[in-house]
Amino acid sequence: MDSPPAPTDVFRVRANGPLRGTVRLSGAKNSALKLMAAALLVDGELTLEAVPRIADVPVMADVLRGLGMDVDLDPEAEVARLRPTEALHWHAPQDAVTRIRASISCLGPLVGRLRHARLALPGGDKIGARGIDLHLRGLAAMGATIDERPGEVEVIASELHGAIIPLDFPSVGATENLVMAAALADGETVIDNAAREPEIQDLCRMLVAMGARIDGIGSPTISVEGVDRLASVTWTTCPDRIEAGTYAFAAALTGGDVVIERVQPSALTMPLLKLRAAGAIVEEGADSLRVKAADLDAVDVVTLPYPGFPTDLQPQLMVLLTQAIGTSRVTENVFESRFSFVDELLRMGADVHLDGHHALIHGPSRLHGTTLAGLDVRAGAAGTLAGLVADGETYVRDVHHVDRGYADFVPRLQALGADVERLPAAAFDG
Ligand code: UD1
Repeated sequence: MDSPPAPTDVFRVRANGPLRGTVRLSGAKNSALKLMAAALLVDGELTLEAVPRIADVPVMADVLRGLGMDVDLDPEAEVARLRPTEALHWHAPQDAVTRIRASISCLGPLVGRLRHARLALPGGDKIGARGIDLHLRGLAAMGATIDERPGEVEVIASELHGAIIPLDFPSVGATENLVMAAALADGETVIDNAAREPEIQDLCRMLVAMGARIDGIGSPTISVEGVDRLASVTWTTCPDRIEAGTYAFAAALTGGDVVIERVQPSALTMPLLKLRAAGAIVEEGADSLRVKAADLDAVDVVTLPYPGFPTDLQPQLMVLLTQAIGTSRVTENVFESRFSFVDELLRMGADVHLDGHHALIHGPSRLHGTTLAGLDVRAGAAGTLAGLVADGETYVRDVHHVDRGYADFVPRLQALGADVERLPAAAFDG
């Protein structure tokens, strides 16, 4: 039987006026983890730069070590060096795999490289069903045999050939896995209705730099002509647009004035459009943003695959809209349970009505500090944001979720003037 999870730290948050100053961000979580998985494909060493100091990175390193990779992490320098050993093997260790959703990204590279993979079915945020049927159907179209057993899946491809693969939904993970498998397959694979997220573009561009032949990067039709081998490369992880959006919303929420550095503004078109529509002033630099706001107005937002509004910013957006004047309507189209955070907002005094995958937010509401469950990485961050404008003290529990996706979250907020502290769970439970 599993032992109960150890209690993890708590954030204590108190309102302290507008956030002001400059924050420099990290490479993207959702890129770095996939770039690390792509090291399974390389003949030689992959050096990654701008690897964020987040908890998921060492877990992914453990998954890869379990598969026979040498992984050397230097968190201070934000560098990872990865090299397959002679003993690369196809069976990933169960404990690390089940702790991290991104370990499913090893499936495509293992099938591409070894023509064989066995993985425990992955863990990660609890935000809906998160099936992998599209990944598996794509691999089957390329000639693989799929054996799904309770808690694990085994994929064997005695031959792995190109195929035309239409995706029912532009799944990020499926697109990435299929591109990585196709990179070393025989012949041409065409993925239709592919996901277009900037992190996928980052992965594809890195694979091209290694010698892969990929067309249509950033478009809904990606074609991959398999090659025999991929070579060593040094690659810089793209900036984290979700982290940037979180700080941008925090700035607007508190009526602050914040400069965010190491950002790719073009990857944030829809969130910035909505911020402006809500009344914020957003200035875009080449790799920076400045966000200022006073009064906020209601806006309607629909989450969609990129370039639509990202589901990973929806909880933070909901917090912002509790402070906007009027009624906002938010529609969640990507993850069925992503509104579970609304219960926490209601307990803080927000006026939100849910109807299926729509939410109506009436604002502005006075929020009151309370103790929030850190439901997932984004809800934990959103709860912290809510605390920045709530009366009294807000406690965000289970912040190991936040650690999975946000590097130096508390010090970065503190540097902007936020009254946020990290407390050990034991101190909190008293
Ligand atoms: C990735 C991101 C996550 C982000 C999400 C959507 C990582 C590590 N995580 O997750 O932060 O919220 O993209 O932008 O990069 N689906 C299926 N079958 C499949 C695949 C997906 O039904 O085979 C469904 C999922 O249950 C979900 C939706 O499709 O409802 C989106 O999933 P997907 O785009 O694959 O997201 P992830 O890659 O899991």
